[in-house]
Amino acid sequence: MAENYKRYTVTAALPYANGPVHIGHLAGVYLPADIYVRYLRSQGRDVKFICGSDEHGVPITIRAKKEGITPQQAVDKYHELIKKSFEDFNVSFDIYSRTSSQTHHETASDFFLKLYNDGKFIEQTTQQYYDEKAQQFLADRYIVGTCPKCGNENAYGDQCESCGTSLNATDLINPKSTLSGAVPVMRETKHWYLPLNEYEPWLREWIVEGHKGDWKPNVYGQCKSWIDQGLQPRAVTRDLDWGVPVPVAGAEGKVLYVWFDAPIGYISATKDLTPDWETYWKDPESKLVHFIGKDNIVFHCIIFPSMLKAHGDYVLPDNVPANEFLNLEGDKISTSRNWAVWLHEYLEEFPGKGDVLRYTLCANAPESKDNDFTWKDYQARNNNELLAILGNFINRAVVLTQKYYNGEVPVRGELQDYDKEVLGVLEGMPVVIATYIERYRFRDALSELMNLARLGNKYLADTEPWKLIKTDEERVKTIMNIALQISASLSILMEPFLPTSARKLSNMLNQPLGDWMAAGSADLLATGHVIGTPELMFEKIEDAAVEAQVQKLLDTKKANEAANAVVEPAKENISFEDFSKMDIRIGTIIEADKVAKTKKLLKLKIDTGIDQRTVVSGIAEFFNPEEIIGQQVSILVNLAPREIKGITSQGMILMAENADGSLAFVQPSKEVKNGGTVS
Ligand code: MF3
Ligand code: ZN
Repeated sequence: MAENYKRYTVTAALPYANGPVHIGHLAGVYLPADIYVRYLRSQGRDVKFICGSDEHGVPITIRAKKEGITPQQAVDKYHELIKKSFEDFNVSFDIYSRTSSQTHHETASDFFLKLYNDGKFIEQTTQQYYDEKAQQFLADRYIVGTCPKCGNENAYGDQCESCGTSLNATDLINPKSTLSGAVPVMRETKHWYLPLNEYEPWLREWIVEGHKGDWKPNVYGQCKSWIDQGLQPRAVTRDLDWGVPVPVAGAEGKVLYVWFDAPIGYISATKDLTPDWETYWKDPESKLVHFIGKDNIVFHCIIFPSMLKAHGDYVLPDNVPANEFLNLEGDKISTSRNWAVWLHEYLEEFPGKGDVLRYTLCANAPESKDNDFTWKDYQARNNNELLAILGNFINRAVVLTQKYYNGEVPVRGELQDYDKEVLGVLEGMPVVIATYIERYRFRDALSELMNLARLGNKYLADTEPWKLIKTDEERVKTIMNIALQISASLSILMEPFLPTSARKLSNMLNQPLGDWMAAGSADLLATGHVIGTPELMFEKIEDAAVEAQVQKLLDTKKANEAANAVVEPAKENISFEDFSKMDIRIGTIIEADKVAKTKKLLKLKIDTGIDQRTVVSGIAEFFNPEEIIGQQVSILVNLAPREIKGITSQGMILMAENADGSLAFVQPSKEVKNGGTVS
């Protein structure tokens, strides 16, 4: 498909180096970007695929503080982890750079200076919260206080996570610094602002008029609503000690705002990649495309383009195909709640199954609305689609060719109507799929690819070469030739989506992956060409594998609930005399039985050292009778006997209760003789 552009600069949002990458990032940004880029390359187009770690900003400093390491150590750790997991997942960046690099510091610094010298900024002095103990200005995230809306005492300076309201630090009641605990004071500070209001008419023309119907509705809609609400000057500097220092006199202790420096990271990374970087960023024949998640829209559609415009030398994005969010098993993905499928863990737990995840995430991509990832769907996509449709078709084609012709591609004889119909669909496929990809509709593109495999399956099922071989050998040659051409075509067309499987198939067919448009040809494999040995493309994913993942998530949920559970407040004080009335001893369980017709009760026989006695205890949900015999427990021996379900219970076993309601025995830390006192 021809286009007016000579080359492509494709960027994927720089992930924050404050945590690993999860499936939400992949489905939203990196997978669609990678599919797009692989597709462009398969047509021999000139592409640079740019990414790297976003290593500045407050989230990094907070993470470092939490882990007790320096911000540099934190970004080093996560940069390596993220970079490797992308590689293992076959995301084909031409470069994965980082914003703490020398090149980036220089590039961002120079960019700021050019705008500064050209008078593009306004300087403004404002009042901001300052921590006198820690001697620094406080980013919103470093201030907590009471939410004026819901009364949550741990609301942050930018948002209350309890009720979701977005806040200004000055809205908080009883603000406190999280750095030192001090009550912050107001102090004057000077910053530089990009007057976005001045770019409003231009933005309106460029986006609202210029990209209507061309940018995705979710992207266009957000931009239009921002512009319609009226744009304000945005501060591009911050009081912080981690980032690119503001390169002008009188700006000590100030750095560039992370959202000013990070997108410039795309440019720095291109510089690290090629001496020809300027062509990719400044020549109007370069098509710039930003792949991002929806929370990044304003930065990539309004702020960064305004920066590029202010600078004057750069091209503007042709498109910003932002996706919505992916949820996980019905819940929002969250790094802090550990509610995620982490890429590096997936790759370890499902070795060799990168393509299965790519397939599931693309088939389910949140392209126009939020979507949900479930392990059940993952399993079904693998077993019922990859394996049953794509894998099955290829396996039949390759195995039968080996069996009937020793792997030699048979000659195609006279064509029947059905053959012509199938070859007709094949011929149109490259354009059909390409059209979807070029409109950033990757789900539809993938579903067309699967339709081709489905057609191949149906063709074989309808023509039944395995039966026909006994009666019409010539006809079978034609059928198998066509099945093989479809397989070869699939290897090319599946490459952007399933790169590992595509190479496996190309090996099996003993045929290098060809150009995209050639995939419509009925003559990809010459008569007499010898294919390789059959291999299974996909394998079944068993229930146990996905059940283990679901269990892992359930455990996470439990751990979160426990961590958030409120600790019961202390009861009223009692006197020592009150306490010493209780006679608590160490005893040993010598018998345990379920109490019939109850769920919770166990009948225990305890050796208390004083006697052997019966105690009825409500612990049956947490302990198997057989497993607790021999355990030591603490028992209140002078509790007045009580009748429970017709059994006289003499005393009470002390239990410790967890936030989730689960119970544990209160036991001595080393063995104590039965009858030993507890006081
Ligand atoms: N780190 C940001 C995020 O994860 C994305 C930065 S994109 C860039 O949301 F353009 F600023 F680099
Ligand atoms: Zn609130």
